[in-house]
Amino acid sequence: VSATGRSAADVLLDGETIAAVLAPGSTLLGHDLAASVDTVIDATGKYVIPGGIDAHTHMQLPFGGTSASDTFETGTRAAAWGGTTTIVDFAVQRAGERVQDGLAHWHELAAGNCAIDYGFHQIVGGVDAGSLAALPGLIDEGISSFKMFMAYPGVFYADDAQILRAMQVAADTGLLTMMHAENGPVIDVLAEQLIEKGKTSPYFHGVARAWQMEEEATHRAIMLSHLTGAPLYVVHVSAKQAVEQLAWARDNGQNVFGETCPQYLYLSLEDQLGASSEEWGDFEGAKWVCSTPLRSKHEGHQHHMWQALRTNDIQMVSTDHCPFCMKDQKTLGQGDFRAIPNGIGSVEHRMDLMYQGVVTGQITLERWVELTSTTPARMFGMYGKKGVIAPGADADIVVYDPAGHTSIGVGKTHHMNMDHSAWEGYEIDGHVDTVISRGKVVVDDGSYIGTKGDGRFVKRGLSQYLI
Ligand code: URP
Ligand code: ZN
Ligand code: ZN
Repeated sequence: VSATGRSAADVLLDGETIAAVLAPGSTLLGHDLAASVDTVIDATGKYVIPGGIDAHTHMQLPFGGTSASDTFETGTRAAAWGGTTTIVDFAVQRAGERVQDGLAHWHELAAGNCAIDYGFHQIVGGVDAGSLAALPGLIDEGISSFKMFMAYPGVFYADDAQILRAMQVAADTGLLTMMHAENGPVIDVLAEQLIEKGKTSPYFHGVARAWQMEEEATHRAIMLSHLTGAPLYVVHVSAKQAVEQLAWARDNGQNVFGETCPQYLYLSLEDQLGASSEEWGDFEGAKWVCSTPLRSKHEGHQHHMWQALRTNDIQMVSTDHCPFCMKDQKTLGQGDFRAIPNGIGSVEHRMDLMYQGVVTGQITLERWVELTSTTPARMFGMYGKKGVIAPGADADIVVYDPAGHTSIGVGKTHHMNMDHSAWEGYEIDGHVDTVISRGKVVVDDGSYIGTKGDGRFVKRGLSQYLI
């Protein structure tokens, strides 16, 4: 299955790359194909797809007074289990730090530890003369995209003037600007006022992060993109009103893109209340605290997001994998939701959760491949090597069994380094059978058989969505 169609075929791998895609019954130098190769994987009745590319993960991210609980080792192994063969993680530059130093540190964290291939985006946590001057040099390092934050003042933040300057550099160089579009200063005031009224439970995280402030920030980012000519990629879109802004900008001819995440397709603010009898939920709700937040199901965001995936108003699905345990991590925010480390862990489940959209008739099989592999490869300058089953491409391949089944949850399918799952109890009609990463089988029928350090750094080119 590719982003453009499906057919019965044999895929011939040679070492780390794909050698040929052959019609069934093809021979090799006059010999039967199966007799001419070392290993045969029988995928009869199953889908053979390009390995998943999760273009938004945060392994080991220092955030909220702690660090994301998956290391590059545990997180990439969980990704492999779930049919993802490449991640693009975010190297972090904090305000006052040199971009080069932040990036070097991220290379140290990842090198030799990953189960699958990995690339980096650059977080620019502080936009100043030094970081602006460092941006163009990222391209030679194989890092063709950087993220700024309109949220999180005092942690990672850029004001409009800083965004303008960074986008001007992006427009000049071909770097792709990624934006966390939420109006942080306003959200922080709303959060403070809720706390003052004693509204401290995790539920109020979602109340404070009002959709109006996602719509507003998305619009502001779009207009700065229009002004500067820098293409824009808005990360983790959750509000239907933000989608409408992106659709409007695209209809006006702007080169802007949106990413959503499985949590915004399936989960809602009301789910976050859980089974609690208390009006505003109990602390269990902290499991689902992420930014942008889960949106109310009464407003129809989730339905709108699936629709946007069909109409191409949203182009990609990544996880924003940013796991924190309840114990000693999420619990930092007991009594004050502002201190709950933000993030949900999903890197293992993205391919399954999105396949469920095929089962329920929300997206086509081809769109599944496009959203989870082919567009991420093109968007972030890896296509040809990644995101496609074609001669010369890396042999990153998943055999997916539509007749199989996957039960998600702690003690079931759950290999992420977390003491809970935001997806506890989810049942998937489908199963990741075999995962091949650059020609090596790393997952075989539920068993991980790869080795730490199999994954290599991917030097990315410029986005193939630049015009
Ligand atoms: O809640 C989230 N999304 N945590 C990760 C940091 C970010 O903003 O992507
Ligand atoms: Zn973000
Ligand atoms: Zn993120």
